[in-house]
Amino acid sequence: MMLLLAAASVVAFVLLLYMVSPLISPKPLALPGAHVVVTGGSSGIGKCVAIECYKQGAFITLIARNEDKLLQTKKEIEKYSVNDKQVVLCISVDVSKDYGNVENVLKQAQEKLGPVDMLVNCAGTSVTGKFEDLEMNTFERLMAVNYLGSVYPTRAVIATMKERRMGRIVFVSSQAGQLGLFGYTAYSPTKFALRGLAEALQMEVKPYNIYVTVAYPPDTDTPGFAEESKTKPLETKLISETSSVCQADQVARVIVKDAIQGNFNSSIGSDGYMLALLTSGMSPVTSITEGLQQVVGMGIFRIIGLFYLGSFDSIVRRCMIEREKHPSTTDKTE
Ligand SMILES: NC(=O)c1ccc[n+]([C@@H]2O[C@H](COP(=O)([O-])OP(=O)(O)OC[C@H]3O[C@@H](n4cnc5c(N)ncnc54)[C@H](OP(=O)(O)O)[C@@H]3O)[C@@H](O)[C@H]2O)c1
Repeated sequence: MMLLLAAASVVAFVLLLYMVSPLISPKPLALPGAHVVVTGGSSGIGKCVAIECYKQGAFITLIARNEDKLLQTKKEIEKYSVNDKQVVLCISVDVSKDYGNVENVLKQAQEKLGPVDMLVNCAGTSVTGKFEDLEMNTFERLMAVNYLGSVYPTRAVIATMKERRMGRIVFVSSQAGQLGLFGYTAYSPTKFALRGLAEALQMEVKPYNIYVTVAYPPDTDTPGFAEESKTKPLETKLISETSSVCQADQVARVIVKDAIQGNFNSSIGSDGYMLALLTSGMSPVTSITEGLQQVVGMGIFRIIGLFYLGSFDSIVRRCMIEREKHPSTTDKTE
């Protein structure tokens, strides 16, 4: 009898938490008329994020370096307009160099399209290779583009967001920012760094009604992914092949939805869900439901995760044995 009563109380408590959960979640951001800035908006995931926001009535500023690609993307996005007031502004700038310059162009964008409501830091690049084969300047360049290239635009818009007591900041990390894999010694740390930045920043800006989202896309079919795949070590390729490649528009839809809702974590698919839960650590939650799922799911997902790690280790060991047997095939990527 006592046991039944205890079980009923637990169920009632969980139900109550589910019911009050929406009350403590952030108020969704209204995209119609909002100013959304997308760095890396001329290609791949960033381009699809810009299209998704434009379809929902936002004004867009696209940031990337190559002007021709920017103008081509602007034309592509404009096909999806939902009203004749919408604008797509293009800014050619390297987000990894010269903070003053990045701050200046974002000031100009805000003068034209109003204060930034949502900043999506998507500019990024990846180089894979064995640690000892990677050039030292690769480590420096990736940290500059993937990490500082997100710090600079964020720093340039945060003061105005705090004054207005509203805003969304998105950092596009990667599943390689949740676990380190063979071949990603230069890339992974840059994406892990974004998580640290996001957690610390979220604690600072939450009282100002600003919500930070970290997106962890899996392998996604983009020009950047195609470029990276050309030089992937065999081990990295075989590990990547254990999960499927997503489409950029599918990834973008999830990122935009989570940013609107103010969710801290944004992940795609069942692998993404498992990784987000496993790596939730001390990261903020935006609903009680999310917190409960982490408490309940962590243990079981750790068991599944250990199987994955075991299979990745065995791929790496098999490749090493093959190489030692056939030294002529050393470092072939296919
Ligand atoms: N595709 C994947 O499998 C995957 C998976 C997980 C995470 N991600 C992350 O998602 C983001 C987008 O990846 P993607 O695959 O869509 O890449 P992509 O197709 O190569 O597009 C990268 C975009 O970033 C811009 N960019 C690169 N360096 C820049 C710089 N220094 N300053 C300004 N803009 C710069 C590029 O334009 P310009 O070259 O003209 O500057 C382009 O618009 C990246 O952060 C990537 O790490 C991708």
